Amino acid sequence: MSVTVVATSSSLGLAARVASILGGELVVAEEKAFPDGEKYVRVPIKIAGTAVIVHSTYPPQDERIVQLLLTIDAAKGAGAERAVVVIPYLAYARQDRRFLEGEPVSVGAILRAVEAVGADAVVTVDLHKPSSLDEWLRVPHTNVLPAGLLASYFKGRLKDPLVLAPDRGALHRAEAAAKALGADYDYLEKSRDRVTGQVTVAPKSLSVEGRDVLLIDDIISTGGTLALAAKSAKAAGARSVYAACTHALFVLGALDRLYAAGIGEVVATDTVPSPVSKVSVAELVASAVLSLTRG
Ligand code: R5P
Repeated sequence: MSVTVVATSSSLGLAARVASILGGELVVAEEKAFPDGEKYVRVPIKIAGTAVIVHSTYPPQDERIVQLLLTIDAAKGAGAERAVVVIPYLAYARQDRRFLEGEPVSVGAILRAVEAVGADAVVTVDLHKPSSLDEWLRVPHTNVLPAGLLASYFKGRLKDPLVLAPDRGALHRAEAAAKALGADYDYLEKSRDRVTGQVTVAPKSLSVEGRDVLLIDDIISTGGTLALAAKSAKAAGARSVYAACTHALFVLGALDRLYAAGIGEVVATDTVPSPVSKVSVAELVASAVLSLTRG
């Protein structure tokens, strides 16, 4: 299979790692903005065979979504017979249904646009709701889960570890992380003190007393969710608390908020660049690309 990996400025490092694992040529798209703000993208070579486009849509997400659509079109126009589109962080994935009448299903709108412009296969990383891909795409697709890799970062350093997901819907992530550590896992439930109104969270069934807790989530945005979890775990007697996430959006001082809540270390993957993006998803992404392009 002849592969050209097309990198954009949003995912240069990850794209380079994926290209090296796949043994493909790496081409960096040219990007600029017109004076009125419109975006310009150019793939500066002819492509024969498969183009693997690696482009993450972290903030400014609207701009990056437009760049993604333009890059897919440019790669096809440059001769690619097939475009495998890797979206390490897919923005708008949390609006995965109409919570209120009149709302869009944002994830569906974005995925349909990606397919309509020319994606022949799509790879995502730790999508908020993985079944969104089945729901909205007709082309082959896969979602990879780096929870095991994130947990392995802490392997051998945690005493009597307990992996906690911030809610029931995220339990699959805690389960995968716990498997990599040979640890217990659970999810957190919210409760509100009737008198003070203070909100705390606590594991559904297991105790944190004297244990090292690893909190794991798909996204850290403001850090509010995991800061509350960390404070509650500490108050309930956890020995130490660590945190891992796939997508380190880190807005509004999130890292400071997490450390101030007593978290000993935070680690993330390289789907979004950050000071703690120490775990690469390149191997997982390259395997997913191979499985979608084989045959
Ligand atoms: C929510 O559905 C997500 O899985 C994350 O828990 C959420 O986006 C985290 O946001 P924040 O860091 O702002 O609490």
